[in-house]
Amino acid sequence: MLTFAAFALCVLCLLPASGSADEITATPISPVPAVPDQKSTTTPQSRIVGSASCAAASCHGGGRRIEGLHYAASLIWAGRDPHASAWDVLNTARSRNMLELLGAGQGGAPPAATQDARCLNCHATVEQPLTGTVVSDYLHHDGVGCEACHGAARDWIGPHVTAAWKRLPAKQKLSLGYVDLASSLTQRANRCAECHIGGVGRDVNHDLIAAGHPRLDYEFSTFHTNYPRHWQPRASTSGLPDPEDSPTFPLDAWQAGQFAAAEACLKLLEDRTAEGRPWPELAEYSCFSCHHNLEDRSWYQQRRSSGRPAWETWNLAPLRNSNSANLLPLSTAIASLETVMNQPQPDRQQVRTSVTNAVTTLAPLLTPPEPWTAASIDQFCLTSIRSSRRTTTDGSILAAGSWDELAQLYLGLRAAVAARRNLAPADPHNAQRTQLLEQIRTQLLFRPGYDSPGTSSNTAVLAVTDAINQLEQLLAP
Ligand code: HEC
Ligand code: HEC
Ligand code: HEC
Ligand code: HEC
Repeated sequence: MLTFAAFALCVLCLLPASGSADEITATPISPVPAVPDQKSTTTPQSRIVGSASCAAASCHGGGRRIEGLHYAASLIWAGRDPHASAWDVLNTARSRNMLELLGAGQGGAPPAATQDARCLNCHATVEQPLTGTVVSDYLHHDGVGCEACHGAARDWIGPHVTAAWKRLPAKQKLSLGYVDLASSLTQRANRCAECHIGGVGRDVNHDLIAAGHPRLDYEFSTFHTNYPRHWQPRASTSGLPDPEDSPTFPLDAWQAGQFAAAEACLKLLEDRTAEGRPWPELAEYSCFSCHHNLEDRSWYQQRRSSGRPAWETWNLAPLRNSNSANLLPLSTAIASLETVMNQPQPDRQQVRTSVTNAVTTLAPLLTPPEPWTAASIDQFCLTSIRSSRRTTTDGSILAAGSWDELAQLYLGLRAAVAARRNLAPADPHNAQRTQLLEQIRTQLLFRPGYDSPGTSSNTAVLAVTDAINQLEQLLAP
């Protein structure tokens, strides 16, 4: 039985049941930690000022809460945001154990995770990824603070409270280090992907996973839904357009997330091909092709007969499977990268060339997409369903090739159905679509006590396939 305590967090467990409203209210409030009386050792050129600088009662510390949620941003972050404890988890026994396993055989005591750039780059607020062993800095204690998302604030913290700030062009704000997460969903999704997928200097590879790090099982719209909001629709505060006001926001967010995820995971793979890095990098491959139960006729055995692990396309499957005309060059580029990655000993240089090609193909596609209509959403669902189907070696037809692809298919459909419901609340099929989605979600959930899909996969896959077929019939009677 190969299931691991540290295997993976089920991305679906994070979601509220299909169809429930996103939680927007902020309730339990705990005090903002005081600024420690210590000198920062952050390099002089760093523009990080620390989350405490935002937490004054007259700023985001809650004194003017009545005027809007963003006046309480610091309280919400300190009280409810998992990012506020991102540095603290580096002090746990689990992290110490990870460092010990990572340093095994190298002699001497392992460095603390709180001083290891490999960890700090995602678990603390850094302006540029750090390297090697890092001098302790009290600003790291913030964990993933305000500036990890909004940009290093030294040069904008002053100007952003002035009346002129709102009129400042986005470019100028950016030159001061301010990252505009509000108007551009792509920018927002890119920011989260930096740590939730990784990139240069930020890599949860198989070494870290085998040492005990959870696999980064991430999808933007899910995490965004689940993120304790410390803001409210901008229209209510400033009259400016806000992507969250759009009825199709769930699908817009899903789509922005897919592009951001594709870009981040391709760049991460490019970085992994560098000389001196473990290669082939096992975290690129389907975990379940190596770690699976040795049961008779498992789902795994039906799908793959070659005995070779397959490249895991969790972050790429939706774009690869898309058959929309403008995505064709990208899906072709991803498919040829897949061929290279699925060779027994993929050649670093060949992979790198192929990745660079995919990244170049992706770049021009990162423009704001056409607004969705009910008809284009239905078409999107049908295309996603049909292009995900796989035939097994015994001829049966499954909804998708793996748990991962099924879960991604579900998340895309979920976003689409939510957007569709917002566009046409009176549609008589809304309730049934939501019910079918819920049926899919419950089948995909990990069984209690498991942190991987476990042995029920076969039955689950058939039940999901059935629900997806019904959904298809609702869309194309
Ligand atoms: C690429 C970014 C990244 C790197 C590098 C990274 N982590 Fe993480 N870590 C995360 C994210 C994101 C999560 C949350 C996982 C989730 O919920 O999807 C996490 C979760 C954890 C957890 C579990 C926390 C909990 O609340 O259960 C521990 C412990 C941890 N990391 C320790 C470490 C240590 C130690 C290192 C360095 C050896 C490290 N991490 C490197 C991003 C990273
Ligand atoms: C994990 C990323 C993340 C962290 C950490 C974070 N924010 Fe945000 N913040 C966002 C996102 C996403 C939005 C929504 C987009 C927007 O309105 O800018 C937002 C919105 C806001 C807004 C509303 C902006 C507006 O124009 O209406 C304020 C104010 C804010 N954050 C302050 C803070 C403060 C203060 C902290 C630290 C205590 C913080 N944020 C930490 C991601 C983050
Ligand atoms: C600087 C790195 C970083 C950035 C940027 C970042 N995160 Fe995170 N995030 C983390 C880490 C590390 C954790 C795990 C913290 C812990 O377990 O204590 C985490 C945890 C989370 C969790 C909780 C996951 C769980 O398993 O419960 C959510 C939700 C989340 N992040 C959403 C977001 C969103 C949405 C954005 C972008 C707006 C974002 N994050 C940006 C590093 C980051
Ligand atoms: C090509 C085969 C292969 C793939 C693919 C693979 N692993 Fe592993 N994994 C191994 C081997 C072999 C070991 C034992 C050696 C080691 O610790 O590196 C291992 C060890 C582990 C361990 C530690 C087990 C223990 O009991 O100490 C965990 C956890 C783990 N892998 C999780 C994963 C996850 C999650 C993925 C997918 C992201 C994955 N593996 C992909 C072969 C693989």
